[in-house]
Amino acid sequence: MSKRAASRQGFCMRDFSLRRLLGGIPPSTFLAEYWQKRPLLVRQALPGFGDWLDRDGLSALACRDDAESRLVRHQRGRWRLDHGPFAREELDALPARGWSLLVSGVNHLLPEGDRLLHAFDFVPHARLDDLMVSFAPDGGGVGPHFDSYDVFLIQGLGRRRWEIGGQDDLALVEGAPLRILRNFRAEQSWELEPGDILYLPPRFAHNGVALGDCMTWSVGFRAPKAQEIVGEFLNHLQDTLDIPGMYADPALRQPRHPARLPDELVDWAAGVVDSLRWGRADIVDFLGRYLSEPKAHVFFEPPTRPLSPATFARRVAVTGVALDARSRCLFSVRTFFMNGERVEAAPALLPALRQLADHRRLPPGEYAQSLLALLHAWYAAGYLRATPAHG
Ligand code: SIN
Ligand code: CO
Repeated sequence: MSKRAASRQGFCMRDFSLRRLLGGIPPSTFLAEYWQKRPLLVRQALPGFGDWLDRDGLSALACRDDAESRLVRHQRGRWRLDHGPFAREELDALPARGWSLLVSGVNHLLPEGDRLLHAFDFVPHARLDDLMVSFAPDGGGVGPHFDSYDVFLIQGLGRRRWEIGGQDDLALVEGAPLRILRNFRAEQSWELEPGDILYLPPRFAHNGVALGDCMTWSVGFRAPKAQEIVGEFLNHLQDTLDIPGMYADPALRQPRHPARLPDELVDWAAGVVDSLRWGRADIVDFLGRYLSEPKAHVFFEPPTRPLSPATFARRVAVTGVALDARSRCLFSVRTFFMNGERVEAAPALLPALRQLADHRRLPPGEYAQSLLALLHAWYAAGYLRATPAHG
């Protein structure tokens, strides 16, 4: 086994227990005292972390069209932002200082990344976003800023100095292509070593500066905005409602102003809109579909020669199943949402389906025919695989 493969295997076996990631603090204490409230620095949460990916590996990911990548440059006092996919020659020719390469959704691209992201699922999956990895040469970073969401910043290869501040002044530099705080005031500063983790609540100002070649892994969360939820819910209504009826005016009288909107038409439209009703079940249906919907650049790869249902069942008995890293699976009571699609589960299937959704895998076993039929349909769509889970 090569040194690299051996270290990867070592990594896979690494202790990802929450206690360790949270520095020995029980998750319930972390949630009560830090989550969305104040920063937490955990030294050596993952000793020796970072050997999965170096600059070369990240550059290769940034050239893929199924990755979301960005290149931030800061040269002669000016910020510049470019979006990938990039050409390898362009990344290899970058100068010695003044830039940072960032790739989002690394949990979709590296199996270990999926496992690391899901080590943080003491927070509901609906709130978990993705794993981003950045590389910056000495002095590089994305500037002082704040994020709208919670983040765990895990130091990978190299070292980084993080300065943070709980300021209320969140005014941004005007005209910059990325959000840079105009008046950043650092209150605390630390140098992070590989395996150190810094948790920051939303809207907490921070600035990370690379001390030599440096990689940072960010476990990011999502929280829908009220405006987004209303807009998306209205789209959902449009797609799902079928409203009968049409305006009619058999008693029409010739108007004095033909251009005037008829009062009767306004009353009729107001009545139709007022008659719309929805309940909690509609909201669950909408939210489950919306929050489990893959991002725009995500595409599944169905098997080219899918196993027949019978062969698949025999395979599952030996290997179990594991969700594809790109799959998002949520549930509410008996309703399951897999990548934006809704399935109503029979009561007998609930324990296994909940286990699959929570742990993203099912152990080898003999499962009911109706469950195997559903798993086979998801397998044929590329949402899961009949292979042992990694790690
Ligand atoms: C970075 O990795 O450089 C940026 C991470 C962050 O500040 O959220
Ligand atoms: Co940030």
